[in-house]
Amino acid sequence: MKPLETRTDIEFLVNRFYHKVRADEKIGIFFTEIVKVNWEFHLPKMYNFWETLLFGKAVYKGNPMAVHFPINAKKAMEKEHFNRWLELWTKTVEENFTGKMAKSAVSKAKNIADLMAFKMEIARR
Ligand code: HEM
Repeated sequence: MKPLETRTDIEFLVNRFYHKVRADEKIGIFFTEIVKVNWEFHLPKMYNFWETLLFGKAVYKGNPMAVHFPINAKKAMEKEHFNRWLELWTKTVEENFTGKMAKSAVSKAKNIADLMAFKMEIARR
């Protein structure tokens, strides 16, 4: 186990995470059916997103919250989905990395997932 410290580490982590996500019975459908994700396009965005979030490098340009509203409109993104998302993310981080940055990857994801779950719920009212 090693600390999470490079772009290569992030790429590895994100690849492993989406590998799990795609096969997941609860949330896989969002990525394979609700949105037919173009992985060649999506994965580099996610590498950039996490590099910006963890290492403060301004490589991600986008609005992560906004992207999820149209998905939520097609199929409700419920708390249980976010819980699973977070469970898979935490598992993938902890299986592969240790240290401060790994902890930060988990806690930042939790904060965003909580906020996102709340915003998606409000949008459905
Ligand atoms: C149930 C939970 C979630 C589901 C089902 C979900 C699903 C998706 C899908 C289908 C896309 C679109 C991919 C595309 O357009 O090809 C996407 C994009 C994205 N998601 Fe999520 N997501 C979830 C939670 C999260 C969380 C918690 C975060 C952040 C920690 C996040 C960050 C992102 C980002 C950064 C993008 C790319 C935005 C852009 O295009 O700039 N997602 N997500």
